[in-house]
Amino acid sequence: MLEKDFDPENFGIYDGICETIVTTCKGWTPNAAPMGIIRRKDKLYLRLFKGSATYENVLAEKSLVANITHDPMLFALSTFTNLDDSAFEQTVYENNTIYPLKEAESWVAFECINTKITSEALVAELVPVHAHMNECRIKAPNRGFYAVIEACIHATRYQLTGEEKYLKLIKAYGEIVEKCGGDAEKDAFKKVYEFL
Ligand SMILES: Cc1cc2nc3c(=O)[nH]c(=O)nc-3n(C[C@H](O)[C@H](O)[C@H](O)COP(=O)(O)O)c2cc1C
Repeated sequence: MLEKDFDPENFGIYDGICETIVTTCKGWTPNAAPMGIIRRKDKLYLRLFKGSATYENVLAEKSLVANITHDPMLFALSTFTNLDDSAFEQTVYENNTIYPLKEAESWVAFECINTKITSEALVAELVPVHAHMNECRIKAPNRGFYAVIEACIHATRYQLTGEEKYLKLIKAYGEIVEKCGGDAEKDAFKKVYEFL
């Protein structure tokens, strides 16, 4: 258990919705998907819509790891596929096996409590139980990175609904990626297009 004065900000989790890659597991099989960790003052939550592997794993295991990363390709790949097993690290704490991402800048393992289930989603409160900081470099905000994140979100909506408006939005974010992104953002955006 983490001590009482654990500060999520030391691991990159600030007020608002933090876009992370959540890793969970089913038996020995790890899974990764982008998910928003919601922080309102000192409370942390997660809202998972029905239908994802993450939803099923959290319901069964009541635990997850939120990985902080600025790697656009990790966001693109984990939105549409599962990551290769080699992307995960296996760590044991207090007899629990967890699967953070090797390339995460930091990660926080959470226990999920007070889970509320509706017809569409579950909302769970998150209690931090273990955290780790890898070496990370300072990085100025790059609009291309955030445009890849937005494109991934609209791509999941497009896949769900088939509505043309999402394709238009993805195209507009593609223009920002072209203008502001580096090679990593451009490659990740191409990957998003491949999955449409
Ligand atoms: C940046 C980003 C944030 C997302 N946040 C959430 C979220 O908070 N809750 C949710 O249910 N889905 C969210 N999604 C959608 C899931 O990542 C997506 O449905 C994914 O395919 C689920 O993968 P899984 O089946 O491996 O869990 C998000 C997607 C992106 C790109």
